[in-house]
Amino acid sequence: MSAYSELARVKIEKLRGRDDILTLGIESSCDETACAILRGREVLSSVIASQIDIHKRFGGVVPEIASRNHVTAIDGVVRSALDKAGVSLEDIEVIGVTYGAGLLGALLVGVSYAKALAYSLGIPLMAVNHIKGHVAVNYIADKLLTPPYVCLIASGGHTAVAYVKDWDELEILGSTQDDACGEAFDKIARVLGLSYPGGPAVEQLALSGKPVVKLPRPFKGIDTLDFSFSGIKTALINYVHNASVKGEEINRADIACSFQELVTDIMADNAVRAAKIKGCDRLVIAGGVGANGVLRNKVELRAKREGLSVYYPPIGLCTDNGVMIAAQAQCMIKAGRDCSDYDLDADASLTPED
Ligand code: KG4
Ligand code: ZN
Repeated sequence: MSAYSELARVKIEKLRGRDDILTLGIESSCDETACAILRGREVLSSVIASQIDIHKRFGGVVPEIASRNHVTAIDGVVRSALDKAGVSLEDIEVIGVTYGAGLLGALLVGVSYAKALAYSLGIPLMAVNHIKGHVAVNYIADKLLTPPYVCLIASGGHTAVAYVKDWDELEILGSTQDDACGEAFDKIARVLGLSYPGGPAVEQLALSGKPVVKLPRPFKGIDTLDFSFSGIKTALINYVHNASVKGEEINRADIACSFQELVTDIMADNAVRAAKIKGCDRLVIAGGVGANGVLRNKVELRAKREGLSVYYPPIGLCTDNGVMIAAQAQCMIKAGRDCSDYDLDADASLTPED
Protein backbone atom coordinates (compact mmCIF):
# COMPACT_ATOMS: atom_id res chain seq x y z
CA MET A 1 0.00 0.00 0.00
CA SER A 2 1.37 3.44 -0.93
CA ALA A 3 1.94 6.18 1.64
CA TYR A 4 -0.78 8.18 -0.16
CA SER A 5 -3.20 5.29 0.14
CA GLU A 6 -2.51 4.86 3.87
CA LEU A 7 -3.18 8.55 4.47
CA ALA A 8 -6.35 8.51 2.32
CA ARG A 9 -7.68 5.48 4.21
CA VAL A 10 -7.20 7.16 7.57
CA LYS A 11 -9.02 10.23 6.23
CA ILE A 12 -11.93 8.33 4.71
CA GLU A 13 -12.67 6.55 8.00
CA LYS A 14 -13.05 9.98 9.60
CA LEU A 15 -15.59 11.00 6.93
CA ARG A 16 -17.94 8.06 7.53
CA GLY A 17 -21.14 8.98 9.31
CA ARG A 18 -20.83 12.65 8.37
CA ASP A 19 -23.52 14.24 6.19
CA ASP A 20 -21.71 17.48 5.32
CA ILE A 21 -18.67 16.18 3.42
CA LEU A 22 -17.23 18.71 0.97
CA THR A 23 -17.10 16.57 -2.18
CA LEU A 24 -15.77 17.33 -5.65
CA GLY A 25 -17.19 15.22 -8.49
CA ILE A 26 -15.62 14.88 -11.94
CA GLU A 27 -17.37 13.43 -15.02
CA SER A 28 -15.81 12.89 -18.46
CA SER A 29 -17.25 9.58 -19.72
CA CYS A 30 -18.76 10.85 -22.98
CA ASP A 31 -19.22 14.35 -24.42
CA GLU A 32 -19.58 16.44 -21.27
CA THR A 33 -16.67 17.62 -19.13
CA ALA A 34 -18.30 18.31 -15.80
CA CYS A 35 -17.40 19.16 -12.23
CA ALA A 36 -19.59 19.84 -9.21
CA ILE A 37 -19.01 20.59 -5.57
CA LEU A 38 -21.41 19.36 -2.91
CA ARG A 39 -21.54 19.90 0.81
CA GLY A 40 -23.44 16.78 1.81
CA ARG A 41 -26.61 16.81 -0.31
CA GLU A 42 -26.37 20.55 -1.00
CA VAL A 43 -25.06 21.60 -4.43
CA LEU A 44 -22.56 24.46 -4.10
CA SER A 45 -21.68 24.55 -7.80
CA SER A 46 -22.07 22.57 -11.00
CA VAL A 47 -20.19 23.36 -14.20
CA ILE A 48 -20.68 21.49 -17.48
CA ALA A 49 -18.65 22.06 -20.66
CA SER A 50 -20.74 20.36 -23.32
CA GLN A 51 -19.20 19.17 -26.59
CA ILE A 52 -22.58 18.70 -28.28
CA ASP A 53 -21.93 21.49 -30.80
CA ILE A 54 -18.58 19.92 -31.75
CA HIS A 55 -20.01 16.42 -32.33
CA LYS A 56 -23.28 17.57 -33.95
CA ARG A 57 -21.73 17.85 -37.38
CA PHE A 58 -20.67 14.15 -37.22
CA GLY A 59 -24.15 12.98 -36.12
CA GLY A 60 -22.77 11.44 -32.91
CA VAL A 61 -19.83 11.44 -30.51
CA VAL A 62 -16.40 10.89 -32.10
CA PRO A 63 -14.35 9.29 -29.28
CA GLU A 64 -10.92 10.72 -30.18
CA ILE A 65 -12.31 14.24 -30.56
CA ALA A 66 -14.13 13.86 -27.23
CA SER A 67 -10.91 12.86 -25.42
CA ARG A 68 -8.97 15.81 -26.81
CA ASN A 69 -11.68 18.26 -25.82
CA HIS A 70 -11.84 16.83 -22.29
CA VAL A 71 -8.09 17.46 -21.97
CA THR A 72 -8.56 21.08 -23.02
CA ALA A 73 -11.59 21.69 -20.81
CA ILE A 74 -11.06 19.80 -17.57
CA ASP A 75 -8.80 22.15 -15.62
CA GLY A 76 -10.92 25.23 -16.41
CA VAL A 77 -14.13 23.38 -15.51
CA VAL A 78 -12.75 22.32 -12.10
CA ARG A 79 -11.41 25.80 -11.35
CA SER A 80 -14.70 27.37 -12.35
CA ALA A 81 -16.63 24.95 -10.06
CA LEU A 82 -14.34 25.88 -7.14
CA ASP A 83 -14.81 29.61 -7.86
CA LYS A 84 -18.58 29.33 -8.07
CA ALA A 85 -18.73 27.30 -4.85
CA GLY A 86 -16.52 29.84 -3.09
CA VAL A 87 -14.16 27.15 -1.78
CA SER A 88 -10.49 26.46 -2.38
CA LEU A 89 -8.93 23.17 -3.42
CA GLU A 90 -7.49 22.72 0.07
CA ASP A 91 -11.04 22.70 1.53
CA ILE A 92 -12.10 19.64 -0.54
CA GLU A 93 -12.35 16.48 1.59
CA VAL A 94 -12.95 13.81 -1.05
CA ILE A 95 -12.95 13.50 -4.85
CA GLY A 96 -15.27 11.28 -6.85
CA VAL A 97 -14.51 10.49 -10.49
CA THR A 98 -16.30 8.44 -13.16
CA TYR A 99 -14.09 5.45 -14.00
CA GLY A 100 -16.65 3.59 -16.18
CA ALA A 101 -18.69 2.88 -18.19
CA GLY A 102 -18.08 5.13 -21.17
CA LEU A 103 -15.51 5.95 -23.85
CA LEU A 104 -12.11 4.72 -22.68
CA GLY A 105 -10.07 7.73 -23.83
CA ALA A 106 -12.63 10.15 -22.41
CA LEU A 107 -12.74 8.32 -19.06
CA LEU A 108 -8.95 8.31 -18.83
CA VAL A 109 -8.83 12.12 -18.92
CA GLY A 110 -11.05 12.44 -15.84
CA VAL A 111 -9.42 9.51 -14.03
CA SER A 112 -5.84 10.81 -14.59
CA TYR A 113 -6.80 14.34 -13.57
CA ALA A 114 -8.67 13.20 -10.43
CA LYS A 115 -5.85 10.84 -9.38
CA ALA A 116 -3.26 13.61 -9.67
CA LEU A 117 -5.49 16.03 -7.76
CA ALA A 118 -6.33 13.58 -4.95
CA TYR A 119 -2.67 12.53 -4.66
CA SER A 120 -1.40 16.12 -4.53
CA LEU A 121 -3.98 17.07 -1.88
CA GLY A 122 -3.54 13.81 0.07
CA ILE A 123 -7.31 13.17 0.14
CA PRO A 124 -9.38 10.07 -0.68
CA LEU A 125 -10.46 9.32 -4.27
CA MET A 126 -13.68 7.37 -4.94
CA ALA A 127 -13.98 5.49 -8.26
CA VAL A 128 -17.57 6.06 -9.31
CA ASN A 129 -19.71 3.88 -11.57
CA HIS A 130 -21.40 6.33 -13.98
CA ILE A 131 -24.75 4.53 -13.97
CA LYS A 132 -24.89 4.44 -10.18
CA GLY A 133 -24.21 8.20 -10.38
CA HIS A 134 -27.34 8.67 -12.50
CA VAL A 135 -29.29 6.85 -9.78
CA ALA A 136 -27.63 8.74 -6.90
CA VAL A 137 -28.44 12.20 -8.28
CA ASN A 138 -31.97 11.51 -7.05
CA TYR A 139 -30.67 11.87 -3.46
CA ILE A 140 -29.78 15.44 -4.33
CA ALA A 141 -33.10 16.13 -6.04
CA ASP A 142 -35.01 14.74 -3.04
CA LYS A 143 -33.11 15.14 0.21
CA LEU A 144 -35.34 12.61 2.02
CA LEU A 145 -34.98 9.75 -0.46
CA THR A 146 -33.22 6.65 0.92
CA PRO A 147 -32.86 3.09 -0.42
CA PRO A 148 -34.49 0.65 -0.99
CA TYR A 149 -36.57 1.43 -4.08
CA VAL A 150 -37.06 0.30 -7.66
CA CYS A 151 -35.29 2.36 -10.32
CA LEU A 152 -35.82 2.72 -14.06
CA ILE A 153 -32.38 3.33 -15.57
CA ALA A 154 -32.96 5.03 -18.93
CA SER A 155 -29.76 6.39 -20.40
CA GLY A 156 -27.87 6.61 -23.66
CA GLY A 157 -25.84 3.48 -22.97
CA HIS A 158 -28.04 1.45 -20.58
CA THR A 159 -31.67 0.56 -20.09
CA ALA A 160 -32.73 -1.52 -17.11
CA VAL A 161 -35.03 -1.82 -14.14
CA ALA A 162 -33.15 -2.32 -10.92
CA TYR A 163 -33.83 -2.90 -7.26
CA VAL A 164 -31.64 -0.42 -5.37
CA LYS A 165 -31.05 -2.32 -2.14
CA ASP A 166 -28.64 0.02 -0.46
CA TRP A 167 -26.48 3.13 -0.98
CA ASP A 168 -24.08 1.32 -3.33
CA GLU A 169 -25.81 -1.93 -4.19
CA LEU A 170 -28.31 -2.66 -6.90
CA GLU A 171 -29.81 -5.77 -8.47
CA ILE A 172 -30.82 -5.74 -12.13
CA LEU A 173 -34.37 -7.11 -12.57
CA GLY A 174 -34.52 -6.64 -16.35
CA SER A 175 -32.34 -5.01 -18.97
CA THR A 176 -32.17 -4.35 -22.68
CA GLN A 177 -31.26 -7.24 -24.92
CA ASP A 178 -29.99 -4.95 -27.68
CA ASP A 179 -30.04 -1.13 -27.95
CA ALA A 180 -30.36 1.19 -24.97
CA CYS A 181 -33.40 3.49 -25.10
CA GLY A 182 -31.30 6.66 -25.55
CA GLU A 183 -29.38 4.97 -28.35
CA ALA A 184 -32.73 4.11 -30.02
CA PHE A 185 -33.88 7.75 -29.73
CA ASP A 186 -30.57 8.89 -31.27
CA LYS A 187 -30.83 6.38 -34.16
CA ILE A 188 -34.45 7.28 -34.97
CA ALA A 189 -33.51 10.96 -34.89
CA ARG A 190 -30.89 10.26 -37.56
CA VAL A 191 -33.45 8.46 -39.74
CA LEU A 192 -35.72 11.50 -39.39
CA GLY A 193 -32.89 13.89 -40.27
CA LEU A 194 -32.77 15.41 -36.77
CA SER A 195 -29.57 16.52 -35.14
CA TYR A 196 -27.61 14.91 -32.31
CA PRO A 197 -28.52 14.28 -29.48
CA GLY A 198 -31.68 12.71 -30.79
CA GLY A 199 -33.81 12.41 -27.66
CA PRO A 200 -34.78 16.06 -27.16
CA ALA A 201 -35.19 16.54 -30.95
CA VAL A 202 -37.54 13.54 -31.26
CA GLU A 203 -39.53 14.73 -28.22
CA GLN A 204 -39.90 18.19 -29.78
CA LEU A 205 -40.97 16.87 -33.20
CA ALA A 206 -43.42 14.40 -31.62
CA LEU A 207 -45.37 17.30 -30.12
CA SER A 208 -46.99 17.94 -33.50
CA GLY A 209 -47.51 14.27 -34.38
CA LYS A 210 -50.03 11.50 -33.72
CA PRO A 211 -49.21 7.89 -32.73
CA VAL A 212 -50.67 6.44 -35.94
CA VAL A 213 -47.71 4.41 -37.27
CA LYS A 214 -48.11 0.76 -36.26
CA LEU A 215 -44.95 -0.64 -34.67
CA PRO A 216 -44.19 -4.10 -33.25
CA ARG A 217 -44.27 -4.36 -29.45
CA PRO A 218 -41.34 -6.54 -28.30
CA PHE A 219 -41.92 -9.53 -25.98
CA LYS A 220 -45.67 -9.38 -26.67
CA GLY A 221 -47.44 -11.88 -24.40
CA ILE A 222 -44.20 -12.76 -22.61
CA ASP A 223 -43.90 -12.00 -18.92
CA THR A 224 -40.51 -10.28 -18.73
CA LEU A 225 -38.93 -7.15 -17.32
CA ASP A 226 -36.35 -7.11 -20.15
CA PHE A 227 -36.36 -4.54 -22.93
CA SER A 228 -35.68 -4.67 -26.66
CA PHE A 229 -35.67 -1.66 -28.96
CA SER A 230 -33.91 -2.83 -32.11
CA GLY A 231 -37.07 -4.40 -33.66
CA ILE A 232 -38.93 -1.11 -33.29
CA LYS A 233 -36.01 0.75 -34.85
CA THR A 234 -35.80 -1.70 -37.80
CA ALA A 235 -39.59 -1.48 -38.37
CA LEU A 236 -39.35 2.30 -38.56
CA ILE A 237 -36.37 2.23 -40.91
CA ASN A 238 -38.32 -0.17 -43.17
CA TYR A 239 -41.41 2.07 -42.99
CA VAL A 240 -39.41 5.12 -44.11
CA HIS A 241 -37.59 3.11 -46.81
CA ASN A 242 -40.81 1.59 -48.24
CA ALA A 243 -42.47 5.00 -48.39
CA SER A 244 -39.46 6.43 -50.21
CA VAL A 245 -39.44 3.54 -52.75
CA LYS A 246 -43.14 4.13 -53.44
CA GLY A 247 -42.57 7.88 -53.63
CA GLU A 248 -45.00 8.44 -50.74
CA GLU A 249 -44.74 11.40 -48.37
CA ILE A 250 -43.96 10.50 -44.78
CA ASN A 251 -45.15 12.44 -41.77
CA ARG A 252 -42.01 12.75 -39.64
CA ALA A 253 -43.89 14.08 -36.62
CA ASP A 254 -46.23 11.04 -36.66
CA ILE A 255 -43.20 8.73 -36.84
CA ALA A 256 -41.48 10.49 -33.92
CA CYS A 257 -44.68 10.44 -31.89
CA SER A 258 -45.43 6.75 -32.62
CA PHE A 259 -41.89 5.75 -31.67
CA GLN A 260 -41.87 7.81 -28.48
CA GLU A 261 -45.32 6.57 -27.41
CA LEU A 262 -44.35 2.91 -27.75
CA VAL A 263 -40.88 3.20 -26.17
CA THR A 264 -42.10 5.23 -23.19
CA ASP A 265 -45.05 2.87 -22.80
CA ILE A 266 -42.72 -0.12 -22.54
CA MET A 267 -40.45 1.64 -20.05
CA ALA A 268 -43.28 2.89 -17.83
CA ASP A 269 -44.89 -0.55 -17.92
CA ASN A 270 -41.73 -2.42 -16.92
CA ALA A 271 -40.87 0.09 -14.19
CA VAL A 272 -44.30 -0.11 -12.53
CA ARG A 273 -44.45 -3.91 -12.85
CA ALA A 274 -40.95 -4.19 -11.33
CA ALA A 275 -42.02 -2.10 -8.32
CA LYS A 276 -45.11 -4.29 -7.85
CA ILE A 277 -43.10 -7.50 -8.14
CA LYS A 278 -40.67 -6.22 -5.51
CA GLY A 279 -43.52 -4.98 -3.29
CA CYS A 280 -41.83 -1.59 -3.30
CA ASP A 281 -43.87 1.61 -3.03
CA ARG A 282 -41.19 3.96 -4.39
CA LEU A 283 -40.17 4.27 -8.02
CA VAL A 284 -37.20 6.35 -9.20
CA ILE A 285 -36.24 7.41 -12.74
CA ALA A 286 -32.55 7.83 -13.66
CA GLY A 287 -30.56 8.74 -16.79
CA GLY A 288 -30.74 11.06 -19.78
CA VAL A 289 -33.99 9.67 -21.23
CA GLY A 290 -35.52 10.47 -17.84
CA ALA A 291 -35.65 14.06 -19.15
CA ASN A 292 -38.42 12.98 -21.53
CA GLY A 293 -41.70 14.57 -20.49
CA VAL A 294 -43.90 11.84 -21.98
CA LEU A 295 -41.96 9.17 -20.05
CA ARG A 296 -42.17 11.13 -16.79
CA ASN A 297 -45.93 11.67 -17.19
CA LYS A 298 -46.63 8.06 -18.04
CA VAL A 299 -44.62 6.69 -15.11
CA GLU A 300 -46.27 9.18 -12.77
CA LEU A 301 -49.79 8.40 -14.00
CA ARG A 302 -49.43 4.62 -13.82
CA ALA A 303 -47.55 4.72 -10.53
CA LYS A 304 -50.29 6.86 -8.98
CA ARG A 305 -52.87 4.28 -10.01
CA GLU A 306 -50.84 1.64 -8.18
CA GLY A 307 -50.26 3.82 -5.11
CA LEU A 308 -46.54 4.29 -5.77
CA SER A 309 -44.53 7.49 -5.15
CA VAL A 310 -42.38 8.61 -8.08
CA TYR A 311 -39.05 10.44 -7.92
CA TYR A 312 -37.05 11.92 -10.78
CA PRO A 313 -34.35 14.58 -11.02
CA PRO A 314 -34.87 18.02 -12.57
CA ILE A 315 -34.17 17.92 -16.32
CA GLY A 316 -30.72 19.53 -15.88
CA LEU A 317 -29.58 16.64 -13.67
CA CYS A 318 -30.88 13.83 -15.94
CA THR A 319 -28.05 13.98 -18.48
CA ASP A 320 -24.36 13.81 -17.53
CA ASN A 321 -23.12 16.16 -14.82
CA GLY A 322 -20.67 16.33 -11.92
CA VAL A 323 -23.36 16.42 -9.21
CA MET A 324 -24.30 12.78 -9.82
CA ILE A 325 -20.67 11.69 -9.45
CA ALA A 326 -20.12 13.61 -6.21
CA ALA A 327 -23.45 12.22 -4.92
CA GLN A 328 -22.43 8.63 -5.66
CA ALA A 329 -18.99 9.19 -4.05
CA GLN A 330 -20.88 10.11 -0.87
CA CYS A 331 -23.08 7.00 -1.18
CA MET A 332 -19.94 4.85 -1.44
CA ILE A 333 -18.57 6.41 1.75
CA LYS A 334 -21.91 5.72 3.49
CA ALA A 335 -21.76 2.12 2.25
CA GLY A 336 -18.28 1.64 3.80
CA ARG A 337 -16.49 1.34 0.45
CA ASP A 338 -12.74 1.68 0.24
CA CYS A 339 -11.10 4.57 -1.60
CA SER A 340 -8.86 4.03 -4.65
CA ASP A 341 -5.11 4.09 -4.85
CA TYR A 342 -3.22 5.96 -7.57
CA ASP A 343 -3.17 2.81 -9.73
CA LEU A 344 -6.92 3.23 -10.45
CA ASP A 345 -7.69 2.52 -14.12
CA ALA A 346 -10.70 3.35 -16.27
CA ASP A 347 -13.10 0.51 -17.17
CA ALA A 348 -15.07 1.26 -20.34
CA SER A 349 -17.39 -1.74 -19.98
CA LEU A 350 -18.37 -1.49 -16.34
CA THR A 351 -21.92 -2.82 -15.73
CA PRO A 352 -24.55 -1.07 -13.56
CA GLU A 353 -24.13 -3.74 -10.85
CA ASP A 354 -20.32 -3.35 -10.55
O1 KG4 B 1 -27.76 9.23 -19.41
P1 KG4 B 1 -27.10 9.94 -20.54
O2 KG4 B 1 -26.48 11.26 -20.26
O3 KG4 B 1 -26.07 9.02 -21.28
C1 KG4 B 1 -25.44 7.87 -20.77
O4 KG4 B 1 -25.02 7.88 -19.61
O5 KG4 B 1 -25.40 6.92 -21.57
O6 KG4 B 1 -28.21 10.15 -21.62
C2 KG4 B 1 -27.99 10.62 -22.91
C3 KG4 B 1 -29.12 10.12 -23.75
C4 KG4 B 1 -29.00 10.45 -25.22
O7 KG4 B 1 -29.23 9.25 -25.94
C5 KG4 B 1 -30.12 11.45 -25.43
O8 KG4 B 1 -30.68 11.40 -26.74
C6 KG4 B 1 -31.14 11.02 -24.38
O9 KG4 B 1 -30.36 10.69 -23.27
N1 KG4 B 1 -32.07 12.11 -24.03
C7 KG4 B 1 -33.40 12.04 -24.24
C8 KG4 B 1 -33.93 13.29 -23.84
N2 KG4 B 1 -32.89 14.06 -23.38
C9 KG4 B 1 -31.76 13.31 -23.50
N3 KG4 B 1 -34.17 11.06 -24.75
C10 KG4 B 1 -35.48 11.31 -24.86
N4 KG4 B 1 -36.06 12.47 -24.52
C11 KG4 B 1 -35.32 13.49 -24.00
N5 KG4 B 1 -35.90 14.63 -23.67
ZN1 ZN C 1 -24.83 9.33 -18.47
